[in-house]
Amino acid sequence: MEIGMTKAGDKIIVALDVATKGQALALVEQLHDKISFFKIGLQLYTAQGPEIVRAVLATGVKIFLDLKLHDIPNTVARAVESASSLGLQMLTIHLSGGSEMIRAATGVRTNNMSILGVTVLTNANDQTLRETGISDTFDKQVVRLAKLGIENGIDGMVASPHEIKSLRAEFGDKIKIVVPGIRPSWSEPGDQKRFMTPREAIEAGADYLVIGRPITAHKNPREAVERILREFQ
Ligand code: C5P
Repeated sequence: MEIGMTKAGDKIIVALDVATKGQALALVEQLHDKISFFKIGLQLYTAQGPEIVRAVLATGVKIFLDLKLHDIPNTVARAVESASSLGLQMLTIHLSGGSEMIRAATGVRTNNMSILGVTVLTNANDQTLRETGISDTFDKQVVRLAKLGIENGIDGMVASPHEIKSLRAEFGDKIKIVVPGIRPSWSEPGDQKRFMTPREAIEAGADYLVIGRPITAHKNPREAVERILREFQ
C-alpha cells in the first residue's frame, strides 16, 4: 500500500477517552511527534470543559471534538459557534436532528472547522431502530441520513468500517469518512464487534481512523502507535 510512515500517522486520530487533564496531556506528550490529531469526547469534555481543548491545542496538535450535538437548531448553532471559536478542526452532530438543525450547524462554522455527521450509532441494530419508530433497515437508515447531511452542507461523516464502501460508492470523494471501531490484529476487540484492522479500513477508503484503547490502554502507547504504523507498510 502506498502509504508512508508520516502519511499513515496523519490518518490516525487517537481518542483521549480519559478523565483528567493530566492523563490527556500525558498521552499527547508521548505521541505528538507521531500523531497529529486527537479526539476529545463526552467523558473528557464533561469533566474538563473547553479548557482541555485549549490545553491540547496549545501543544500544536489538531482536535476532533466529538460532542454529537442534537438539539433545537438555535442551540446547536450557538454551540457550533463556540466550538469554532476554540480553533478546533472537527466537530460532530447527529444527523437525525433533521435538515433544519444540520443547516443551522453548517451555516455558522468558521475557522475551517469541519462538521461531521453521525448517522446511526454502531452499537444500534434493527431492534434499536424498531424501538425508536424507524421501520427501515440499518443500512437504509445510514444512507438516508448521510444524504440528508450532504444535502445540508456537512463536510464528512463518522461511519463504521463496514459502511465505508457503500458511502464511497454513493458519495465518491466529496466527503471525509472518519472511522472508529478499529482493532489492530494484535489487540483485544473489547466491546467493538464489527471492527477492521487499520490497514483494512484505509484500504476500504477511510480518510481518518479513530483509535482509542488499543493505544491508550496499551502498557506503552508509543509502542502501540509504532506497531500500527508498521502495519501500514
Ligand atoms: O477504544 P476504542 O478504539 O473502541 O475507541 C473508539 C472511540 O470512537 C471512542 O471514543 C468511541 O466513543 C468512538 N466511537 C465508536 N463508535 C462510534 C462512534 C464513536 O467507537 N460509532
